[in-house]
Amino acid sequence: MKVIGIEGSPREDGNTEKLVRAILAGAAQKGADTRFYKISKMNISPCRGCIGCRESGICVIQDEMTILYDEIQASDAIVLGSPIYMWQVTAQTKMLMDRLVVFVKPDFSSRLNGKKDLVLAFTQGNPDPQSFKFYFDYLEKLFSFMYYDVRGRVVAHGMRKKDDILDQKEVLERAREIGKSLVA
Ligand SMILES: Cc1cc2nc3c(=O)[nH]c(=O)nc-3n(C[C@H](O)[C@H](O)[C@H](O)COP(=O)(O)O)c2cc1C
Repeated sequence: MKVIGIEGSPREDGNTEKLVRAILAGAAQKGADTRFYKISKMNISPCRGCIGCRESGICVIQDEMTILYDEIQASDAIVLGSPIYMWQVTAQTKMLMDRLVVFVKPDFSSRLNGKKDLVLAFTQGNPDPQSFKFYFDYLEKLFSFMYYDVRGRVVAHGMRKKDDILDQKEVLERAREIGKSLVA
């Protein structure tokens, strides 16, 4: 069982990174092989919209996204984490999402080579956990449309400083439990 974490905050060891790592730690505790990838530390460019991948399934941009394409295909479950910036995922996360178009065939069926469980992990400054529910619901619909099996979401709210999540033991505990449930 392989579980990969892909995390889209530009801030090193911030709240989102800790949240994604907690989910991975739960999965590892149950015996999963886990890997963590930080988009901002990788050489990944935005989609050029050439649509070259539509027929071939191969992106013309030969950057470190090729690592993530291989890792996604090799994984059983993916944890995608992002802070909320301006009511949305970060630019780094959106860039990765656009590049996932490689796995979408012209008839909108999928090139994913099997079932891919997905957990979405978000952190936000807003103290109201419901404030972006509409957006998280929408993202879950999007990923379901792209044939990912959405298994859950974890949201840490009221996050300002990069260690704030350490004070939310129950959120980190829930993250670990979701990670474990991916393997159970
Ligand atoms: C440019 C920027 C925009 C942000 N926009 C929002 C926002 O719209 N809503 C919100 O609740 N928090 C917002 N935040 C706060 C972050 O989502 C929050 O601090 C998050 O935990 C940061 O994650 P990190 O520690 O992993 O980098 C913003 C932060 C930055 C730097």
